[in-house]
Amino acid sequence: MQCTDRLRAGNALKFGVFGVNVSHGCAVTSAPGNIEVNWDESVRIARAADAVGVEALIPVARWKGFGGETNFNHRCFESYTWAAGLAQATEKIHVLATSHVPTIHPVMAAKQAATIDHISRGRFGLNIVAGWNASEIGMFGRPQREHDERYAVAAEWITLIKRLWTESGGFDYKGRYFDCPDAYAEPKPIQTPHPFIISAGVSPAGRRFAAEHADMNFLLAPTLEIGAEILRDVKTLAKKEFGRDIQVWGMAAITQGDSQKQAEDYFKYYVDEAGDWVGAANMLDAFAPNSGSYSPEHREQLLRAMVAGYTAWPIVGSAQRIAEALIEISNLGFDGLSLSWVNYDDGLARFSAEVMPLLEKAGVRQTVP
Ligand SMILES: Cc1cc2nc3c(=O)[nH]c(=O)nc-3n(C[C@H](O)[C@H](O)[C@H](O)COP(=O)(O)O)c2cc1C
Repeated sequence: MQCTDRLRAGNALKFGVFGVNVSHGCAVTSAPGNIEVNWDESVRIARAADAVGVEALIPVARWKGFGGETNFNHRCFESYTWAAGLAQATEKIHVLATSHVPTIHPVMAAKQAATIDHISRGRFGLNIVAGWNASEIGMFGRPQREHDERYAVAAEWITLIKRLWTESGGFDYKGRYFDCPDAYAEPKPIQTPHPFIISAGVSPAGRRFAAEHADMNFLLAPTLEIGAEILRDVKTLAKKEFGRDIQVWGMAAITQGDSQKQAEDYFKYYVDEAGDWVGAANMLDAFAPNSGSYSPEHREQLLRAMVAGYTAWPIVGSAQRIAEALIEISNLGFDGLSLSWVNYDDGLARFSAEVMPLLEKAGVRQTVP
């Protein structure tokens, strides 16, 4: 099997380790052991994930922190260069860049992506985010556009990139947002027709963008039930309107213990006692007015999920309980999940030793050869 097949086909429930390029990773907490952001750490976790058959490394696109006790994510590796380095350091896992559309011209994004696809021998992926955080996008001298227009810009951006990846010779591109005479890019990426594309929008405009342009829609949803409704909607939209199949992934923040009680006690500690609730609220308050899918009635739940793992579904318990929860998510139709822990080294080691064999037994994943 080609490396590229692991994300497009492969396991029924795929995994992506999320947030290794940003300080504190995905957990807004001062509990010790989380991501510091240094190169040895990135390589170590990437190689560990690669060795146990995780399909993808998905970085966060971030440029500054959110205040509070931790100044969550204020240290952050730029994600294309991070992916390029990890492409060389790993063997089978897909390495993604998470790209804010307004921060990079599509010609440059297409070239960087093709270059990393060569470095990785066909394992690059692009997570497209439209850029909700006006304060970050402002650093680039760009005004924040209105919500749905951000997706209109993203649609032109990726359309031009896909043409650069697939068309030989030069062509003129003239759109509403990009004017690119005699557009040209060689070499092409290794993956055909192009590298794996993710989009993390959830609003009607975000879902439509994903259905038309992405291979996978990466969701945040306050509950599993709401997530499953969005999943059905996006898959139907992709099929009916664009004649395409699309994967849908959710997000899981894993807390694994020897017993249910031990896991729950640790979860309470890192979320309720050591959680940086000020930083998490700053982030949610900045996000809410810039998101087309934020629901104020779910604020409390979302804030807790933000502290626990960047709005991921908290999955807390023994290996058995975690496996059951993941199998339930798979049975709802999710094709994959991003995974995060407070301590990625310990978390991934325990997860692969104790949870993955149960998932293999249940048939949602296969044993790594
Ligand atoms: C799994 C996931 C990962 C995301 N990663 C980032 C990111 O790295 N940087 C960023 O600025 N926004 C990120 N977002 C935010 C999305 O780009 C988007 O703003 C959010 O999902 C709301 O989209 P909507 O307005 O279409 O509902 C992420 C969202 C999700 C669900």
